[in-house]
Amino acid sequence: MTTLRKHIPYLIPLSVGILTITSSCTESSPIVVANTDDAVMGNNFPWLIFAIIGIIFVAVTLIFAWAIWRNRTDDDIALSAEPENEQEVTRLILIFGSIIPATALLILMGISLFLVSDYSEFMSLTPDDENTLHVQVIGHQWWWEVRYPEHDVVTANEIVIPIEQPIQFHLTSDDIIHSLWLPELNAMLNMSPGETSVMLLDIDEVGIYEGLCGEYCGLQHANMRFEMIGVTEDEFSQWIDQQAQPAPLPDTTDSLVLEGYQAFMGSACVYCHTIRGTQATGVIGPDLTHIASRNTLGAGILPNNHGNLMGWIINSQTIKPGNYMPPMYLDAEQVDALIAYLETLD
Ligand code: CUA
Repeated sequence: MTTLRKHIPYLIPLSVGILTITSSCTESSPIVVANTDDAVMGNNFPWLIFAIIGIIFVAVTLIFAWAIWRNRTDDDIALSAEPENEQEVTRLILIFGSIIPATALLILMGISLFLVSDYSEFMSLTPDDENTLHVQVIGHQWWWEVRYPEHDVVTANEIVIPIEQPIQFHLTSDDIIHSLWLPELNAMLNMSPGETSVMLLDIDEVGIYEGLCGEYCGLQHANMRFEMIGVTEDEFSQWIDQQAQPAPLPDTTDSLVLEGYQAFMGSACVYCHTIRGTQATGVIGPDLTHIASRNTLGAGILPNNHGNLMGWIINSQTIKPGNYMPPMYLDAEQVDALIAYLETLD
């Protein structure tokens, strides 16, 4: 009994520590939740931990300094002297070594559990909600394939979502591990080949959210970017209806566009790219059905304009070395025609 009592000061922090660690070891679930409020809470929580740890650090340092000052002496032996009062020492260990740390850990654990339960509530609402929009995002070296299975829409490097509506991202990869990262929303989740992870999202504000790949994936990892565009419900239904349309056939009275269409269909482009409604059905590169409606080229690295499109087609290797699109050996007239055709795909 006496032995047990002697060990109590050490048992308390040990058990609280184990409890804190195991409380985060619930069933591992590949789910991340991000909505604007949670992102703010999630961002502030580490600062709270930092503040509490800071106070404890300063207090311990002051006590330590005081102990050194109180026992200052020229005689080194005095420092290792036996304590005068063993009971007093045990009491101090109990207070500063057990009670205070245990209380701090319990408070932090309580706050984490509160945040987790808040997330869980949001999670449990989302799958049952018939409003939920499902978006499949597939990572490729080094671009993003974006699918809306409920609407038969496929696009690339931009994710358009309505605000104030629960969104479920189903994330996977075609090659190696990537990670979908939305820094402003405090959301990041790995995309692994052969596996689907789910990210739940709910945003309140219209705007463009920068997206990045958060897992090193080779030469152009840093240039694997996208835009997530939050729009109103009306704008979204307009956008999705437009994206669900197949590409228009070229206007036969416009000879340049027609020539570009023929150049595309007669070249290697069709083996890698899809343009819905035509014979181009490749799946190696991004779907180009509505390329002209997108803001960027090369997975978020260039504004989508005439000059950049020209540079990209002629030799994208000078812009994004190592990407899987080979240089196209076309003459100037063919390039002009090709771009004229691609610019009709809005
Ligand atoms: Cu994909 Cu890093």
